[in-house]
Amino acid sequence: MPSLPALLREHIRTIPDWPKPGVQFRDLTPLYLDAGAFRRVVDALVQRHAGSDIDRVAGIDARGFILGAVLAHALGAGFIPIRKQGKLPAPTIGEAYALEYGQGVLEVHTDAITPGQRLLLVDDLIATGGTLSAARRLIERLGGQLVEAVAIADLPDLGGSAQLRDSGLPIHTLIQFE
Ligand code: PRP
Ligand code: ADE
Repeated sequence: MPSLPALLREHIRTIPDWPKPGVQFRDLTPLYLDAGAFRRVVDALVQRHAGSDIDRVAGIDARGFILGAVLAHALGAGFIPIRKQGKLPAPTIGEAYALEYGQGVLEVHTDAITPGQRLLLVDDLIATGGTLSAARRLIERLGGQLVEAVAIADLPDLGGSAQLRDSGLPIHTLIQFE
């Protein structure tokens, strides 16, 4: 059986110059297509957090929903969608951010978190870290206790994961693309 990093390397493809010239886009859709490979990812993260007493899993719009909802189900936790601006119908708070190829605002419902709840934050990939950092600010403004931020892939050359770790956020990723 291949190691998890080897399996991930086989199932993540690189699309050059997408969505903008100069961006090496790491496409995880082949991983999600393969039931066995996706299961290995989910099992590794569920095992990591089975004893963490997670109350809620927050997934980031849109690609963070794929893994986030599965982890919430497996950990017996509620799921919180952190969405791009204008998508959530009830009262929200928002945080602006910039990412590798754009900028935006993330929002969360103000009633999604009860102060003190233990949260796992989930996305597919960390590049500049701008997206995770905005999500973290939202969670902390509502009094959530962030246990860890997890993502499948890290692009360490863009410095996001290092910056987030330096700022005190525990980060766990399964593969690095230099
Ligand atoms: C991608 C990815 C992360 C973010 C990482 O989302 O899913 O959320 O970029 O980049 P960063 O570390 O530089 O912030 P994108 O905004 O492309 O949205 P999508 O999930 O809707 O495709
Ligand atoms: N989000 C931000 N940068 C990315 C990249 N290079 N590949 C895939 N998703 C991304």
